Amino acid sequence: MCGIVGAVAERDVVSILMEGLRRLEYRGYDSAGLVALDREHGLGRRRAVGKVAALAERLEDEPLTGHVGIAHTRWATHGAPSEANAHPHICEGRVAVVHNGIIENHAELRRQQEVDGYRFTSQTDTEVIAHQVHRHLAVCNDLAEAVRRTTADLEGAYALGVVSADEPGRLVAARRGSPLVIGVGIGEHFIASDVAALLPVTRRFVYLEEGDLADITREAYRLFDVEGQGVSRPEQESSLTPGAVERGNYRHFMLKEIFEQPRAVADTLEGRLAGGRVLEEAFGYGAAEVLDGVREVQILACGTSYHAGMVARYWLEAVAGVPCSVEVANEFRYRRPVVRPDTLVVTISQSGETADTLAALRDIKARVGSRALAICNVPESSLVRESELVLMTRAGPEIGVASTKAFTTQLTALLLLTLALARRNGLPAEREAEYVAALEELPRRIERALELNDAIDALAADFADKHHSLFLGRGPLYPVAMEGALKLKEISYIHAEAYPAGELKHGPLALVDGEMPVIAIAPNDDLLEKLKSNLQEVRARGGRLVVFADTAAGMDDGEGVRTFPLEHSHELIAPVVYTVPLQLLAYHVAVIKGTDVDQPRNLAKSVTVE
Ligand code: G6P
Repeated sequence: MCGIVGAVAERDVVSILMEGLRRLEYRGYDSAGLVALDREHGLGRRRAVGKVAALAERLEDEPLTGHVGIAHTRWATHGAPSEANAHPHICEGRVAVVHNGIIENHAELRRQQEVDGYRFTSQTDTEVIAHQVHRHLAVCNDLAEAVRRTTADLEGAYALGVVSADEPGRLVAARRGSPLVIGVGIGEHFIASDVAALLPVTRRFVYLEEGDLADITREAYRLFDVEGQGVSRPEQESSLTPGAVERGNYRHFMLKEIFEQPRAVADTLEGRLAGGRVLEEAFGYGAAEVLDGVREVQILACGTSYHAGMVARYWLEAVAGVPCSVEVANEFRYRRPVVRPDTLVVTISQSGETADTLAALRDIKARVGSRALAICNVPESSLVRESELVLMTRAGPEIGVASTKAFTTQLTALLLLTLALARRNGLPAEREAEYVAALEELPRRIERALELNDAIDALAADFADKHHSLFLGRGPLYPVAMEGALKLKEISYIHAEAYPAGELKHGPLALVDGEMPVIAIAPNDDLLEKLKSNLQEVRARGGRLVVFADTAAGMDDGEGVRTFPLEHSHELIAPVVYTVPLQLLAYHVAVIKGTDVDQPRNLAKSVTVE
């Protein structure tokens, strides 16, 4: 989604805003822009289509300075990516606005404003905000009050940064439905969609809550809640360092994040296992009582996080004996599903701000009052705040739009949940200890899987001219195949579909020929022999196979078959381990194809709109 950054300082803020935009670029990257102002220079704006680098070039040609500024990196929703649609939007040369979210009543506001003589220069839903602030300002003559009145007129979701040429020392921010944080400096203040944007300038943050408005100057910030009452929100020190979001020696963030997985998974397990048991305190205060009452699990998520939920369903039913449903949140929220009060609603989200997942959770809490557990990577996110139980994945910031370490840490967290519930359903202590030992092995197994990197790199060239591909798995490896297919399509733009291998003969086999690679995952589990028969069906039709197989699976290279061996892993953790080669495959194919690996076309990292 879009990224916002803003600053009010004694020093020139343009370079701070540009560094912030670079760090937020993962949120949206089809255009970018900024406004800077001060008493001396007035209000200036630069915008450019494409990446933040294009805006930087623009600024080199036409520099800008100012002590107050707002900036934005866009992921188009209303209106194509173009300079006219890029933020900030300005009204009458006086009021400038950056916005993340969607204003649902923009058409109605636009009609009124056109009648009142406001001229529109973009197709965005955002421009109405600039005009509305301008209109209220004419009456009340106070920027914070004008923004407050404007937010009362808006329906939908927003995080806003607003400045006015008439008050060149002031920045007003507001949030409802989209994340926004204030960065607290010494004699200077900032705003951003994500703390990552501000780490070079501060580590002290105040997280705005739903409906909050912030009136910010160099010296101070004042907060108001949805009723307009003054409030204070806690100031928090971030433990992240600026380097946590830097690429280091890796060519792309995605590759860095793939290689961070052993550490990220180890961090996610840390302090949560002891004496062959999962420690329930990991789920938060009062977890034991909530988990005792759970008879069913309903998992809600989107994208890659949904695939983690799909894997967990196999675990929760087979290992914990708990009935489990999994659904993409954007469908669930609109179909009046039946959920019982003794169902634990588990939301899975890297960002904790995905609009569909949040809305589905709110709906089910309001209608049924179910207890909720969030599995999430961002401690300050809305999802975490709105769930009674929380299990943090400790993946660290994930910048590559295609999710990697978030997924494997989600799976790790879901294994912890599985074991905590399994114990209640009679899992013997020695079995739990065996599973816990497998979990403790996991970081090492991932390291071994990463050793396939060079071999997969060499394989990638075979994919560069392909247009379609098929991914096959069985059991919990089927959703892993889905995730592998998603990775490949997201970043290499090769059409990829996943099927449970047993389903092949019911349709997709018709597609198989020498031109379409078929990728299969074959751990040494109960379904291995059945999978092998399915792969024979592919070979018999001249299909070319790439198989990631357990060394003990008895699968070798042969005519039309390339096999990549993986050291044996316990069946429980195999879905996590086999994810790794599929990530590497997608990565190397994308690099060969020359696509933008970290920022694939048309996608955004955190989708905070419906
Ligand atoms: C977007 C991202 C995906 C992500 C999905 C859910 O589509 O591009 O990588 O899986 O949102 O995001 P969440 O933050 O809820 O896990």
